[in-house]
Amino acid sequence: MQGELAAQAEWDYAPAPESRDIVSIAPEYGLFIDGEFVPAADGRQFATLNPATEEPLAQVADAGEADVDRAVAAARAAYERVWGPMPGAERAKYLYRIARLLQERSREFAVLESLDNGKPIKESRDVDIPLAAAHFFYHAGWADKLEHAGFGPSPRPLGVAGQVIPWNFPLLMAAWKLAPALAAGNTCVLKPAETTPLSALLLAEVCQQAGLPPGVLNVTTGAGSTGAALVSHPGVDKIAFTGSTEVGKEIQRAVAGTGKRLTLELGGKAANIVFDDAPVEGAVEGIVNGIFFNQGHVCCAGSRLLVQESVADAVLGRLRDRLGTLRLGDPLDKNTDIGAINSRQQLDKIRALSDAGEAEGAERWSPPCQLPDRGYWFPPTLFTGVSQSHRIAQEEIFGPVLSVLTFRTPDEAVAKANNTPYGLSAGVWTEKGSRILWMAQRLRAGVVWANTYNRFDPTSPFGGYRESGFGREGGRHGLAAYLNA
Ligand code: NAI
Ligand code: MG
Repeated sequence: MQGELAAQAEWDYAPAPESRDIVSIAPEYGLFIDGEFVPAADGRQFATLNPATEEPLAQVADAGEADVDRAVAAARAAYERVWGPMPGAERAKYLYRIARLLQERSREFAVLESLDNGKPIKESRDVDIPLAAAHFFYHAGWADKLEHAGFGPSPRPLGVAGQVIPWNFPLLMAAWKLAPALAAGNTCVLKPAETTPLSALLLAEVCQQAGLPPGVLNVTTGAGSTGAALVSHPGVDKIAFTGSTEVGKEIQRAVAGTGKRLTLELGGKAANIVFDDAPVEGAVEGIVNGIFFNQGHVCCAGSRLLVQESVADAVLGRLRDRLGTLRLGDPLDKNTDIGAINSRQQLDKIRALSDAGEAEGAERWSPPCQLPDRGYWFPPTLFTGVSQSHRIAQEEIFGPVLSVLTFRTPDEAVAKANNTPYGLSAGVWTEKGSRILWMAQRLRAGVVWANTYNRFDPTSPFGGYRESGFGREGGRHGLAAYLNA
């Protein structure tokens, strides 16, 4: 045993931390209203933490109803006087500038995102920030071509968009919401999540730097009550929300009968389906990416592995070996694969659902994995012997926890994959093109990936069915959500 440990130690990676000096975090942040940073009317603030250390990063203004009201008024004035009447070709220039500034300041954004969220720098650097810039570039290209986008000869913007986003991809979700809205000529009030407000505030600074006219983007930081104030504000024409199904339903009730347009992107419990003819190595990488990317804090995560019975042992053997090589720890270390869980609250939820998995009779496994003493951490976890009725097969865990089920026939795979109230995404691993198409026709999911997983592109519409919400983000479909055709 000691020999084994010594051998392992020899192969450990030396720490390769990204420097945090590139970011200067202010002790306090205001709300971004009408082009300026201002304190909340009642002076209230909340702290945002680094979940890897539990250290407070900054105090952030907590917007109340009066602040939301001011932000909506600023957005309305900017819509009527400046942004709505502006030719699309002019709006495009601002979006291009924002995209370019995101690229220029990408290291700063990546470090800030990893500090505030807990995600590995590898992911914020290679996924979140480049994709956020790509969304601005892509939509800049649409701004002067809306008459040719198939929405009729003169599609009109909706007006003021109120946008509430979650903490799992803070900057990227801001970009998904803002870029199409602004390209289409709407103005925005954005409500970031309370555990991850900092990158949206840095984006507001970038908008100042880009010379975006005051009031076109407003950022009202705060918790659920700030989001609720924005949703119910009568001056808002369109609500876009990404987050939990529970809050999505509340928002739908609040918006019903008001004439506001609504899109909801909610939770998921996706099946990642591996057939016996799939190349095992590739499938295992896809399974790992599907559920351990971003600590599993991904609405479209492949949280249920459906593996064909004849290859289950081989696939699970490889998967366990692979999980043993994942490195958990300091999010700013370039070698880290699994960072910190975003909040104490989310950690409690992951623990509770994992305990329920064991209590209901599933078998739990994690590789040997040292968790840091401070901060919020959860090891990569695999449950076998899972039945469809188990809570870990039904409920969104939103953590690094994979539930494994098996199937014998393609029909059984489809039936099990669709046996969930959600319908956001699915993955299919097989060598047969005909089987991919057969499966894609039958899976009730907004996105079906074939021999890949968690692949995103601004040109490609993303969204769900049933309890995963409605409306699409990205591509031409996503633009439609911000236009009166
Ligand atoms: P949440 O839905 O409460 O939070 C998402 C956003 O909505 C945050 O900005 C929050 O401040 C805001 N919000 C909360 N209550 C609101 C209300 N009544 N009106 C308007 N806005 C409101 O999600 P939470 O509590 O952070 O996470 C709980 C679970 O939700 C997670 O464990 C996960 O299962 C799921 N979730 C799914 C996400 C997705 O991408 N589909 C993202 C975040 C969470
Ligand atoms: Mg934080």
